[in-house]
Amino acid sequence: MNQVSTSNTSSVILGIGSYVPKKILGNTELSSRVDTSDEWIQSRTGITERRIADNDQSTSDLAFHAARRAIESAQIQVSEIDLVIVATITPDMAFPSTACLLQHRLGLGKVACFDLEAACSGFLYSLDVADAMLSSGRYKCALVIGAEKMSSIMDWEDRTTCVLFGDGAGAAIISKRGYGPKLLGFLSGADGSNPTLLHQPAGGSSQPATEYTIANRQHFLKMNGKEIFKSAVRVMEKATRELLTENDLDIEDVDHVIPHQANVRIVESMAQRLEIPMNKFFCNLDRHGNTSAASIPLALDEAVKKGLFKEDELAVLVAFGAGLTWSATLVRF
Ligand code: COA
Repeated sequence: MNQVSTSNTSSVILGIGSYVPKKILGNTELSSRVDTSDEWIQSRTGITERRIADNDQSTSDLAFHAARRAIESAQIQVSEIDLVIVATITPDMAFPSTACLLQHRLGLGKVACFDLEAACSGFLYSLDVADAMLSSGRYKCALVIGAEKMSSIMDWEDRTTCVLFGDGAGAAIISKRGYGPKLLGFLSGADGSNPTLLHQPAGGSSQPATEYTIANRQHFLKMNGKEIFKSAVRVMEKATRELLTENDLDIEDVDHVIPHQANVRIVESMAQRLEIPMNKFFCNLDRHGNTSAASIPLALDEAVKKGLFKEDELAVLVAFGAGLTWSATLVRF
């Protein structure tokens, strides 16, 4: 069911960058809009605040700033980039892709650009795809971005979802040439048997926008939180174990885990089941909430900037999202 791959010559992360909008929406301010409390949100999720984009900021704006920072950190010329993948479930519009909009704004050449939709697993799916395209030898340098304006699909009257999500973007420059953390292995999978566990019902071809769909709030994210919670723990544990096994590594070899930043209780349950101590898990969800496809690159960038990784250390990046999808990547620093 899962596709596991290991490159002969590993792709490396030449540079990484992230961006979050300035506006901070704290739990207390949120409690004045919807029937919730700082105490409930913190104790059930670990989230204290999230960033919210301005009305005139779109996903491509967030992605643009993250991409600029990744390019700067990689110390490359934009002319070297020959592939752009944007992971998002909140594109600027249905088409053209957010990646095409970015190509023009970043001043890139007429290179291949597309969006990839794997919800919260999108960034790690995109790394898997970028590595495969680089391994073909037909592409040399990929800009891989996870960017979301989750606030644009939130039902601000639904306390079971609106407290959980935030906006942001993270980007990485990936290449087979150069020096940087090595991407050692990938695993991506999906189970499409229960798509309504986490979905946005209207706005696509099955339910195009009508007055009825708008009146019924069908353009907002809907979620069965309890089922998603259980699946997230189970699936991220399994993906981590399978990826390590496929690469002849053990749980004891793992120095760090960068998990999808959805809920600290999901991370704690996963840590317990994997028997990996919590101090090996990097979390920044307290300040960002769940930023979907931006979650992993945002956390990775922050961890790198904090100097978390020592040379030769091994990190597992692992995510889970709507679909249901999951993806995991092994990084050697
Ligand atoms: N503030 C106050 N009360 C809230 C609330 C909020 N924001 N959201 C829900 N509640 C209430 C519920 O209405 C329920 O009340 P009731 O017992 O009177 O019916 C009670 O809190 C418990 O709700 P429950 O759904 O059992 O809470 P929970 O402990 O399962 O936590 C989530 C809810 C959503 C935080 C949790 O299920 C979760 O994190 N799920 C995964 C979400 C996720 O990660 N999604 C993205 C995956 S990529």
